[in-house]
Amino acid sequence: EHNPKAVIVIFGATGDLAKRKLFPSIYRLFQNKKIGREFSVVGVGRRAWTNDFFRENVKESIESSIHAPEALEEFSSHFYYHPFDVTNPSSYLELKDVLHNLDQKYDIPGNRMFYLAMAPEFFGTIASNLKKEGLTDTQGWSRLVIEKPFGHDLPSAEQLNNEIREAFSEDQIYRIDHYLGKEMVQNIEVIRFANAIFEPLWNSRFISNIQITSSESLGVEDRGRYYEKSGALRDMVQNHLIQMVALLAMEPPIKLTTNEIRSEKVKVLRALRSISGGEVNDFFVRGQYGTGQMNGKELPGYREENNVDDISNTETYVAGKLMIDNFRWAGVPFYIRTGKRMAAKSTKIVVQFKDIPMNLYYRDGENLDPNLLVIHIQPDEGITLHLNAKKSGGGIFTQPIKMDYCNNCIDGINTPEAYEKLIYDSLCGDATNFTHWDEVALSWSFVDSISEYWQTQIADFPNYASGSMGPKAADMLLEKDGFHWWPITDIVEE
Ligand code: BG6
Repeated sequence: EHNPKAVIVIFGATGDLAKRKLFPSIYRLFQNKKIGREFSVVGVGRRAWTNDFFRENVKESIESSIHAPEALEEFSSHFYYHPFDVTNPSSYLELKDVLHNLDQKYDIPGNRMFYLAMAPEFFGTIASNLKKEGLTDTQGWSRLVIEKPFGHDLPSAEQLNNEIREAFSEDQIYRIDHYLGKEMVQNIEVIRFANAIFEPLWNSRFISNIQITSSESLGVEDRGRYYEKSGALRDMVQNHLIQMVALLAMEPPIKLTTNEIRSEKVKVLRALRSISGGEVNDFFVRGQYGTGQMNGKELPGYREENNVDDISNTETYVAGKLMIDNFRWAGVPFYIRTGKRMAAKSTKIVVQFKDIPMNLYYRDGENLDPNLLVIHIQPDEGITLHLNAKKSGGGIFTQPIKMDYCNNCIDGINTPEAYEKLIYDSLCGDATNFTHWDEVALSWSFVDSISEYWQTQIADFPNYASGSMGPKAADMLLEKDGFHWWPITDIVEE
């Protein structure tokens, strides 16, 4: 299904996500002719906006650098606004008429994409009303796209899932994890399975550990209310980090279909060793940022942020050691860390290979560095392979060298944004880069046992300065296994 024709209904169209991500992404699809004239977007929300006001909002959201003014006029004329009360059945009936008219106007065969970009407490209500009032009952397809948070623990996620499953089947549901739309996250499986040189080494015999860092320099900003109840474990680990672990650890799928890939990822998550009770202290470290300096600016600690409790126990940083108890990975730690207000915004994966069996060479008296394969997810996109080579000149001295591939340095290539790809995939009916319910459930149950333990203990917060790389204890986590975090900044800048 290419060149999809559909009406996209955005719930929460007046919100931040719609403006920051959804409108610009739909625009790029339009500009790149991935969608043609046969589309329409209906924004629904509580506010009494007009079509014109909505269209102005859409236009504003699109950076001037990427648009031609006429194209933007044409594009925004496909947008409509419909004031909406999610609990009122007559809102749905009115919407049904609106959608029907748009089908006629734009020659759309009844295809509906319902995009829920709003507070999850209404997901169930919306899904069941859509079904009850017959909005999913058309000639074409109906799909539900939902944003996180998908629950805040396993029981709430299950409840939410049961509610939406009453109206939509699993294959109609597209759960967004925007990391799965990132170019270099999608590249993980290609690097692994399209090269003869990595896969034979990709196991416990040759890899000593894998490190995933996803650091952010921003603090909690204006999301204190949400974040207080979430924290870094639920906000980043349950979804993005665990998804990256699954992609790094999974077996080669027998073919590249959604179901085959998903079932390999699910197998990894089933092998993820569950950590609970006091052993959480041996595998996980939590942190919360205090005051600090970045670029010469004094920054407040987390507890001073808006809508944050001044004795908050919420973690803004997590480091963890994940063990995958299967044949391939037995004994290989997957270290993860993520946090707010860290030294840099960066997501990187470092695969550290085991040392050579016997060291013949010296590097100016020091030992050889291990080989590393670094996958740069953002902001730079690429791959670096760290090797040892001979230093020019007399004697056999070695020096570390790097082979570098930069994906977003190639002239004329503008990597599509994650949302652009994910919206397109969902319009085309490709659910590969979305999270299946089984993955959601397994990662919640892993994360729940950690947060349950943390809830019983008062944390010693704040424990890292804004602008640092996190608490000391996170370094200890690796040191006790004889490893250390590979500095992401060294790896980025040269
Ligand atoms: C979101 C989290 O899922 O991911 C945010 O809710 C976080 O707290 C964001 O800032 C990070 O995404 P990215 O694409 O900027 O790395």
